[in-house]
Amino acid sequence: MSVAQRDDDIRKVTTHRLYEMKQRGEKISMLTAYDYSMATLIDQSGMDVILVGDSASNVMAGNTTTLPITLDQMIYHGRSVAKAVKRALVVVDLPFGTYQGNPLEALASAIRVMKETHADCIKLEGGAEVRESVERILCAGIPVMGHLGLTPQSINKFGTYSVRAREEAEARKLIEDAHLLENIGCFALVLEKIPAELASRVAKELSIPVIGIGAGGGVDGQVLVMHDMLGINRGFSPRFLRRYANLAEDITCAVQSYIEDVKTGDFPSEKEQY
Ligand code: KIV
Repeated sequence: MSVAQRDDDIRKVTTHRLYEMKQRGEKISMLTAYDYSMATLIDQSGMDVILVGDSASNVMAGNTTTLPITLDQMIYHGRSVAKAVKRALVVVDLPFGTYQGNPLEALASAIRVMKETHADCIKLEGGAEVRESVERILCAGIPVMGHLGLTPQSINKFGTYSVRAREEAEARKLIEDAHLLENIGCFALVLEKIPAELASRVAKELSIPVIGIGAGGGVDGQVLVMHDMLGINRGFSPRFLRRYANLAEDITCAVQSYIEDVKTGDFPSEKEQY
């Protein structure tokens, strides 16, 4: 490995660096994290972007949707992650109800996230409907990542988590929204669960990085929820998910062995006591 490559490996990832990665065709890796210990491991593994997703509402708090998580709870997770991360760009989701209603409230929410977590930027869901909020946040110098396609904070409007923008009208609106978000100054865009061909078209048309989840391989990077790709969530198996570990089984086996060792008196041994 050359000195330049090594320096690049430890240099902090910035929004500008993601833009350069897109320019030279280097794919962007992004994964969620919600706590200090996992964020340390993920950052040390070389992840480009760590998302403190409002999926914390599901995987950390056990809610069935992302709607209940509060700004205070997102700040708690964001602070824990940002404290651990040395290299990756840290993005924190603005939770439902903290930016849609009023641009000044959106700005206040984003400022709280930046001041109290020390993250690098925020992400929020929606296109034209949240334009004023995005503009107001950007005016304060806070980088914004957009999120279109399946937007889980609107699940009660959609009624299902199935693939979005299959119909022409919805696909057209998504393309318009993607251009709008780029034009007003978003530095990147997440596209969730849309046809691969549509996602690839958007990635080609935009100059900002487009990161997909369930949006095929024609985009500039991929994001997954950490619990899903590590196999901690046994019940969640959408087609787009690749599992890289089976931690549910590993953790259950380890915990059962510990219980067994405690019950039989095998633990602690003489070597494990003072
Ligand atoms: O909250 C989250 O984890 C997300 C990803 C699914 C992109 O927004």
